[in-house]
Amino acid sequence: MSKIIVVIGAQWGDEGKGKIVDLLAEHFDIVARYQGGHNAGHSVQVGDKSFVLHLLPSGIVHKGKTCVLGNGMVIDPKAFFEEADRLMTQGIEVSPERVKISSRAHLILPYHRALDHTSEERLGNEKVGTTLRGIGPAYEDKAGRRGIRTADALVPEVLRSRIERNLEDANRIIMAYGGEKLDANEIFDETSRLAERLGAFISDTTHFLNVAASDGRSILLEGAQATLLDVDHGTYPFVTSSSTVAGGAIVGSGLAPNRLTGVLGIVRTYTTRVGEGPFPTEMVEDEAEMGQLIRERGREYGASTGRPRRCGWFDAFATRYAAEINGFTSVALTKLDVLDALEEIKVCVGYKLDGRTCESLPAVSQDLRRIEPVYAILPGWQSSTVGMTEMDSLPSEARAYVDFLSEKIGVEIGLVSTGPERSQTIVVKDSAVGGWLND
Ligand code: IMP
Repeated sequence: MSKIIVVIGAQWGDEGKGKIVDLLAEHFDIVARYQGGHNAGHSVQVGDKSFVLHLLPSGIVHKGKTCVLGNGMVIDPKAFFEEADRLMTQGIEVSPERVKISSRAHLILPYHRALDHTSEERLGNEKVGTTLRGIGPAYEDKAGRRGIRTADALVPEVLRSRIERNLEDANRIIMAYGGEKLDANEIFDETSRLAERLGAFISDTTHFLNVAASDGRSILLEGAQATLLDVDHGTYPFVTSSSTVAGGAIVGSGLAPNRLTGVLGIVRTYTTRVGEGPFPTEMVEDEAEMGQLIRERGREYGASTGRPRRCGWFDAFATRYAAEINGFTSVALTKLDVLDALEEIKVCVGYKLDGRTCESLPAVSQDLRRIEPVYAILPGWQSSTVGMTEMDSLPSEARAYVDFLSEKIGVEIGLVSTGPERSQTIVVKDSAVGGWLND
């Protein structure tokens, strides 16, 4: 059976998925995204070159790999070409031969971006802190059955009539909240120009992926955002608008569920969150200084928006939940080296609400804000682990920390990352990652 795996962040995103997918991509034929859009931001470091990817899967930086933008995605054509053109100037081939966009993926158009702003303004103090890229409004249109799919954009009459109809409603909302009225002709002209160029990239990727799977080709399904930002299973309403979890990879790619052979969770040795929403282990008040230390050591600033990320201790309770709903068969633990300076490290091993132990993650965000985390305190190692490639070279406290997290999450750790470069990785157990590092 060919390898078909999903790689997903276990927390609120930015777990260092870019590097791990990049490491694995070499051993897969196809790398596909299945949800989200250019709200994602992966940084991939290859030697002295750094690539920032928003829409394209990380596999793009590997010669000869086919990349798919699946049906579950929302695609801003302008953002797609900006990214493609930027990568091409960095020597990466972004051609229709290697990049396939689903004919069923939905488009993000300028009114979605305007509506994202309006929606956040309307929410005031309750705002989500979105990336303002139009992601939510595009998914609203999809669920509302008025969305425009990439294939629709290739038929000018369809494109024009949908834009006119949708813009009528969008303009009403935008203008009611003091925004500027958008012009249907301008949007149509710009979109049809972009669609002409996009046409060569558009095809039935569902068919392509299923045929590839039947032919024994290996496929890596690359999640964006992460488990706790999933629209169903995340910390609703402070979530993104798509299904980020392993189940979403099936819907968003069109691959049949029984094709999957593994699910890799990406977990960082601490937790971060960008945007608003509850974050039980956040380092605030008397821990704010520690939060700042982690932010600087981990360079925790958004790859998409540049926003400083909120930092907190590792939340094993939430990560165990992520392991459960995704069915992690293995975990990659990233950014071990960021904790090198710490004397003591806290790990949240349980939640209490109103003095009572929680059995599972509370569904109501107000409750999540009131959580009292139950912490275990582990000794730090206070020496450099940067670039280490063997478990045996790690200080004993670092090894104990890795083992403790694995035990609390309930999943074996297959990889540990000790720096941003490909080579700065410990393969704890290739068998634990299903032999994915073999061809
Ligand atoms: P949206 O996806 O732009 O609608 O934003 C919804 C929430 O998801 C906000 O809290 C964003 O900060 C967060 N978010 C979206 N994309 C990412 C990502 O790639 N990493 C981390 N957080 C993200």
